[in-house]
Amino acid sequence: MKKTSAALEALRQATGDVHQQLEQSLTINRPGAGKREYLAYLEDLRGWMASFEAALWNAPWPAEMEARERADKLAWIDTDLRAGGRSSHAIQAIPVAGFTPDLAALPARFGVAYVIEGAQLGTKVLSRALAPGLHPWSPRWLEGYGDQNAKRWRVFTDCVEHYLTTDEAHRVAASAAREAFTSLADWFAARRLARETLQDPRDVAANAGDVSFLFGRVHG
Ligand code: HEM
Repeated sequence: MKKTSAALEALRQATGDVHQQLEQSLTINRPGAGKREYLAYLEDLRGWMASFEAALWNAPWPAEMEARERADKLAWIDTDLRAGGRSSHAIQAIPVAGFTPDLAALPARFGVAYVIEGAQLGTKVLSRALAPGLHPWSPRWLEGYGDQNAKRWRVFTDCVEHYLTTDEAHRVAASAAREAFTSLADWFAARRLARETLQDPRDVAANAGDVSFLFGRVHG
């Protein structure tokens, strides 16, 4: 098996704990989660990604990354939101996190892309967990790149290894990845609180859980 590159290791080290917290806190990852939790998850993901997805992929990338093929996951999300009954107007009205990372340096772009591209890795697990609740719907976001999923991740990690060769590049990429992951976790927590505060009793029941670790980290 191929040895993990130092650059990928730096990205994993910088984000592993936030990923774990995120996974544990998300309502889509709980027993009984279904269409309502999935659509709420997509709305929040959309709200986080909307302010930087185009800037990320319109910036310069090595040709082998095939940035164009990676560039429009908001469209996947919107396909699912529409299939789930959201109107165009409702989709446009989804709150936006306003996260605008500094994408000037290639290592920083790799760091942010790591979070987005890596999110595809969890979809198999997620699909299995959500399958009973979503049946017979097979959503676009969970399909990801389809039979290209493994290949695209391999190309991504090969590029990380090839283009991030210095300690400084590792540091910049890792810091950008952590910043992106943290902003996403904060956003999910804020959205969950907003839903609870809006007092939709179904959401309160669905979202009940301990989010104290997020607030400890955000404000601590
Ligand atoms: C409940 C939701 C999630 C579950 C169950 C989940 C699960 C997983 C699993 C099982 C892997 C490892 C896959 C493998 O090695 O083949 C993974 C990797 C990853 N996930 Fe998630 N994930 C979830 C949400 C997210 C979200 C929301 C993001 C970011 C937007 C994310 C980002 C990543 C990244 C960056 C990796 C790559 C780690 C690496 O191999 O370097 N995940 N996830």
